[in-house]
Amino acid sequence: KDVYAVAGNPIAHSKSPMIHQQFAEQAGQEIHYGRLQPELDGFAKAAKSFFAAGGKGMNVTVPFKLDAQAFADQLTDRAQLAGAVNTLCIQNGKIYGDNTDGAGLVRDLLAQGIDIHASHILLLGAGGASRGVIGPLLQRSPKCLVIANRSAAKADELVKIFADLAVRNEVSLESRTLADLESAQNTLHAFDLVINATAAGLTDESPLSEVAVMQVFKPGSFAYDMVYGKTTAFMKQALQRGARISDGLGMLVEQAADAFLIWRGAELAAKIDPRAVLAKLR
Ligand code: ATR
Repeated sequence: KDVYAVAGNPIAHSKSPMIHQQFAEQAGQEIHYGRLQPELDGFAKAAKSFFAAGGKGMNVTVPFKLDAQAFADQLTDRAQLAGAVNTLCIQNGKIYGDNTDGAGLVRDLLAQGIDIHASHILLLGAGGASRGVIGPLLQRSPKCLVIANRSAAKADELVKIFADLAVRNEVSLESRTLADLESAQNTLHAFDLVINATAAGLTDESPLSEVAVMQVFKPGSFAYDMVYGKTTAFMKQALQRGARISDGLGMLVEQAADAFLIWRGAELAAKIDPRAVLAKLR
């Protein structure tokens, strides 16, 4: 059996092994998929011995996505743009790094009936999670994408990195501070889609103040939190404003599906069913 693993720290609660086993079952294949917990400064060492021992592919999660990018011999364009790697594979002794997070988010949104094209999108946060999804969102040509962060500098930096891609897809790409969102002048309109990519969801705070909530949501908005397994403070705010909500479990399953197809062959796309795996997880 080919051997795969997910590496993170902590890793005990990762759903990836279960998700990938279900894809393998749907595809009529057998794989071995385990968990790895490298020391915080030990990713490269752990990855090296994993592949030296014959490992075929690795998923990478918090806090190792930057280490994985540095570890790869070659990066896909989207991994380079994302600034992080969540999928490693080996071919002819060479390690390739890819990033399927953004594609996973977009596919989950589409599966939930969200029309990205020509929409107004607000992306909260300017860390790694946010950067990973900007490229695939821009490629769907929303009307505008506003990146809002606590501190302006990181959001400004992302706008710079993605400026060309935004122009090519005719998207108005802008940065704001979270405080800016409290004034209607600074948002101009409520958003069709608000994505929480801040780490605030983990501590059950919301990045949005009660004043900002009034500006950014409207009935019919869709609020997406990348965190999964709970209704976050951000999701509760959205519900109170009449918005629809989603957690990030679908994104997790969809990014895993992409990784599975990278490893096992794109032709298996016809056999695997991420939405059925998602339903089972729920
Ligand atoms: P990740 O890789 O998960 O994105 P990160 O790179 O540390 O992690 O980025 C975390 C993001 O969450 C940042 O945008 C951070 O804002 P700052 O750049 O201002 O630090 C944001 N964040 C974390 N806690 C937050 C909170 N309580 N409220 C609002 N934003 C928060």
